[in-house]
Amino acid sequence: MKIYRVGGSVRDELLHLPVKDKDYVVVGANAKQLLQQGFIPVGKDFPVFLHPQTKEEYALARTERKTTQGYHGFNFYTDTSVTLEEDLRRRDLTINALAMDEVTQQIIDPYGGREDLQNKLLRHISPAFAEDPVRILRIARFAARFAPLGFRIAEETKQLIREMVKNGEANALVAERVWQETEKTLGEQHAAIYFQVLDENQALKVIFPELYTLLHQNRMLGEQAYYALNHATLLTQDKAVRWAALLYNLHTLADSIQINKQLLQRLHIPKRYIKIAQYTVQYAHCFTQIMTLSANDILDCLLALDAFRKESYFLSYLQSCQANIAVQYDTQHAQQCSQHFIHCLDVAKQVSVKAILEQGYVGSEIRVQTNQQRIKNITQYITNMTKL
Ligand code: CTP
Repeated sequence: MKIYRVGGSVRDELLHLPVKDKDYVVVGANAKQLLQQGFIPVGKDFPVFLHPQTKEEYALARTERKTTQGYHGFNFYTDTSVTLEEDLRRRDLTINALAMDEVTQQIIDPYGGREDLQNKLLRHISPAFAEDPVRILRIARFAARFAPLGFRIAEETKQLIREMVKNGEANALVAERVWQETEKTLGEQHAAIYFQVLDENQALKVIFPELYTLLHQNRMLGEQAYYALNHATLLTQDKAVRWAALLYNLHTLADSIQINKQLLQRLHIPKRYIKIAQYTVQYAHCFTQIMTLSANDILDCLLALDAFRKESYFLSYLQSCQANIAVQYDTQHAQQCSQHFIHCLDVAKQVSVKAILEQGYVGSEIRVQTNQQRIKNITQYITNMTKL
């Protein structure tokens, strides 16, 4: 039995990047031997195990064959005769098909991964790349992640992706996998490149038709959406804000609320993302007009945004709008709008419902009184501000 470290951790080590998860391939062994050594099986029939102490992943060397379209349509073959090279060959990119013998520190590189690392090239290993459509998303994600290092996608790989899309392979992607890769990418500083790569290779239209419509409605708005996403990555680590910043311009489409709803439902994305994106698309006008709105209208916006009860969503909504306004106007104006909105909420929050109750108001009068006082506070704040 021989054990090798493989995949992303070897790649990242050679790139002098922090190494996260370490994965191992076990050659010349079978499941029974690993079970005897205390390894814990992952799933019933899958040849992947967790190390009893480190809990790192150890997989028996395997080959894979595509059976039907889609992510689950795979048959794998594992046997003590499967070699390391065969296992590496079933992988996506040459830079992900590197192995390391941790005892000798020797690198095993049968498909030119090190050369591609040097040449900063994302290149597929073999036509088997096309057997897994998730790889279209993965390569776009790697293009975004490694953009600061100067990586680009090899021409022959772009060609293959386009053929996959043309052959309908991208249609087989399941929503969970699309969102999983997209969410991971939103954590990257250059997340916009992910969407640009998908677009350049004809995959955006199939995988994110709603985004495609948004980004192509006119050139200026499309570019603005990417700039806004980039700006949002500078403002915050919050992926939900970044996602909402990209979607902001949906508000310019006639059926924006419907399109947004469709997109969010189709991808089964988490509630927080949904809320912030909805607020951004539906109430973009509150942010853009905030400096000129009346106290009455400001309170309507705050109530519609549920700002008194869910302030964290409101603050995230502000950031996604801020990213867009910074791109359309300037950063200072965007900051001013945001701060003005926050101050309005702060003064409105000072209204004490307890005091209103003590004054003897009951039933719907309580809400009316509360809102009247909130409007008074906001009016006073606006008046003081304009005097400055
Ligand atoms: N892999 C693949 N095709 C996929 C998923 C994974 O070929 N659809 C292979 C690649 O060799 C990859 C390895 O499995 O390096 C481990 O996959 P994973 O941990 O998902 O990705 P990493 O490459 O380690 O990337 P990340 O740093 O994003 O985890």
